[in-house]
This record gives sequence, C-alpha cells and structure tokens, in this order.
Amino acid sequence: MNSITIYPAQSLRGTLSIPGDKSISHRAIIFASLAEGVTQIYNLLESEDVLCTIDCFRAMGVSIAKEGDIWKVHGVGLRGLKPPPKILYCGNSGTTFRLLLGILAAQPFEAALTGDASLNRRPMKRVMDPLTLMGAQFRVEGEGTSHRVLHIKGGSLQGIHYKSPVASAQVKSAILLAGLWAKGETTVEEPSLSRDHTERMLKAFGVSLKRNQLAVSVVPPSSISLPSILKIPSDFSSAAFFLVAATLVPSSKITIKEVGLNPTRTGALDILKKMGAKILIHDSKVEGGEEVGTLEVSSSSLKGTLIEGEIIPRLIDEIPILSIAAAQAQGETIIRDAEELRVKETDRIKALVDLLGRLGVSAKDKPDGLIVQGLKGQLFKSTEVESFGDHRMAMSMAVAALISEKGLVIHDIDCVSTSFPTFWDCFRQLGGIMC
Ligand code: S3P
Repeated sequence: MNSITIYPAQSLRGTLSIPGDKSISHRAIIFASLAEGVTQIYNLLESEDVLCTIDCFRAMGVSIAKEGDIWKVHGVGLRGLKPPPKILYCGNSGTTFRLLLGILAAQPFEAALTGDASLNRRPMKRVMDPLTLMGAQFRVEGEGTSHRVLHIKGGSLQGIHYKSPVASAQVKSAILLAGLWAKGETTVEEPSLSRDHTERMLKAFGVSLKRNQLAVSVVPPSSISLPSILKIPSDFSSAAFFLVAATLVPSSKITIKEVGLNPTRTGALDILKKMGAKILIHDSKVEGGEEVGTLEVSSSSLKGTLIEGEIIPRLIDEIPILSIAAAQAQGETIIRDAEELRVKETDRIKALVDLLGRLGVSAKDKPDGLIVQGLKGQLFKSTEVESFGDHRMAMSMAVAALISEKGLVIHDIDCVSTSFPTFWDCFRQLGGIMC
C-alpha cells in the first residue's frame, strides 16, 4: 500500500500508546553496544531507521536480539567493535549515519557508509570537518549523487574545542562520541541548545560530562558501565501529530500515555499552548534520566504566532505538523531561523509551501522559514498530495485530511515506517477513517 485516502473526522476519541522515542532508541542501541555486558531495552522503537542502527552494530560484531518484548544487547566494550565486512547501510537515517561517523572516527579500522537517495544527498561535511580536526580521514565517492559512499579511516584522535555553526544534536553527538576515545577533553559549543539525549545517556552510563551554558565537554573514560535496563519513553515527535489532530478536529478528547517530555524536545508543546491549544500534562515523572508525562488534549481554536530563535531546535521536527496547526489558526504564523528544514529528509520549507498551497492555504517560502496565513477554521481543499518521501510530511498530510472538505489522497506513504510504523493503527484507534 503506497497511497491512502483519508476522510474527514467528526471527532477523535481514545487513549493512545505511542512507540518509543526514535532519538533515544538509536542512542540506546549505540551505548549498549559500547558498554560491557548485557543491556535490556524496553519500548525500543522498531522503525526502519532504528533497525538500520541495529544492523550496523550487528555488522560490527555486536549481538542484538529481541526476546519477547525486550531487546537484549550484548555490549562489546569501548574496544570491542570489529571491522564491518560490508558497507554499512543507514537507510533514511541521518542519526545512524552521523553518530556512527563519530564512533568510526576512533576505531582502528576502515569502514564505508551509505544510505538511501535522500540521505546520500544530506550534508555530512558538518560532521566530517570536526572529526577531521580530531584526526579522522575521509574519502567520498559519488558526492552530490544518490549513491554516495563515504569511507572513513579511524585512528587515534585528539580532543578539540569545537564551535558548531549549527544547533544540531547529530553533530554534537558525533563529536562527543568521538571524544570517548580522544586524547584529552573534547568540547562542543552550539549556537542554541539542541536535544540533549546523548549527554543524558553518557551520564547514565557513568561518563563524566561538564556543561557550561551552550558548551558540553567529555573526558574519555576507560570503559562505560551500564544501567542494565533502559526504558524508552514514547516519542514526543510522534505524539505531536495527534496533539494537533485532536486540537483541530471538533469535539475531540484524547489521552497519550507516558510521552517523553525532555524540555529540549517539547518546543511544540509551548507553541501549541501559546496558540490556544488545550493540553494538560498528568503523572509527570523522570524515568531513565528523561522527563515523562501523560498528555490530555481537547479541541480548541488557535491563533497565529511567531516561531523563531532558540526554540527552533526544540521543535525542528514538528514544524511540518505545526504548519498544519498554523494553517487552521486565525491570523498569520511566521516561522524563521529554521533554514535547517532545507536539509532534512526533503526540503521541508519547499514541500510545505507546495502542499499548503494545494490545500488552499496561502504560504510564502522564505530562505529560513515560511509564513502561513491561517484559514480560521475553514476546511482544507480536497485534493491529491504526495509525501516527497518524507515521513513527517506524510503524517502531517494525514492530519490535514481530517479537517478537509471531503478527504485527501496521499501518495508515497511507505516512508511513515522510518519513524512511526504503527501510525495508521493509532490513527484508526482514535476514529480516523481511511482506505
Ligand atoms: C536528531 C537530531 C535532529 C532531528 C533528527 C534526530 C537526533 O537532527 O531533526 O530527527 O536524534 O539527534 P539535527 O541534528 O540535524 O538537527
């Protein structure tokens, strides 16, 4: 099934359990592979992106298996990875590719990495530059093509103090990971704070970290000791689609259980509340070093807003679905400082302006964002749209269909399984109708 028709909904009702957080799932596999002994991981996201990370570590000699609902990783320690016998395939996953580069930079062997056509066109220089300064060597085949292969020769690394020009958790994480093997301290400074799951997990695995505002430093440990059980919270970025859906579809009330609410991820919650959304948080707690809470959302009308500055990295993945919220709001929403959207799974600024236009919304393309004129609750036009092969665009269009005149036909939806393989089940569970 690569196309779907979704019909407007009268109301959405019910309680959802959303799969594990994608960013934390990648890191759980990575850290458990580098630790000594066995780690049991609960609620791991079994999406294509995370399965790529699992396959890459298996190819480097780590035994990773599912027993019942639990994933067991037999860590090989900081010096136990083996040269991969094949090119490491990272699929659509930027996190797999960039974090792996950080690790491979320090290994005493050569490796090669590739991905799908979208990933092979995404920028890697932002990670290669600092890793080169640390001592890694790179060779790129097919730069600028859909079949790029990146060869990396690891070796002994030198710690650096790196001022990253972008607020990117993937860049920060790659450098911190390389720093686990470097000589001396490694520091990364970013222009504003990006998601900090790597820092939290390093701490959980007993690595000493120092933070000084936007700079974070790691000192190489001799080994990493593990909490033998990791429980992964549900993915806030996946929950965001349903937060917006239940806000926009009249007479809705839904509950989403035990969602990760790490403040470096929940910028969209702040923005939706500022726009007028009714979202309550219950049962707040901290689990495995991450904030978690149950979200209750009921429908409400929204007003346009300004999204800019330091909040951008805290909601970068939610801009597609926030744009759908903005398109239904009263007044204008301006999104700026978000040029990173141009180098995601697709150019999300271009794709959003195109798709919103098809839905009857006036949206303007800006170099670093977009301006959306809200329809004040008027329904979206019914039409056919495509995902541009981007999971977050496909799911945003599915939400838009719920508040369209007669529904939407969405093409190229298989990409949803890169981050949220049970998305359509959750959608149906709340009352969404599709064929
Ligand atoms: C991620 C970081 C972000 C985000 C991506 C996941 C991570 O990318 O958009 O979906 O897990 O570290 P950037 O680091 O490129 O901002």
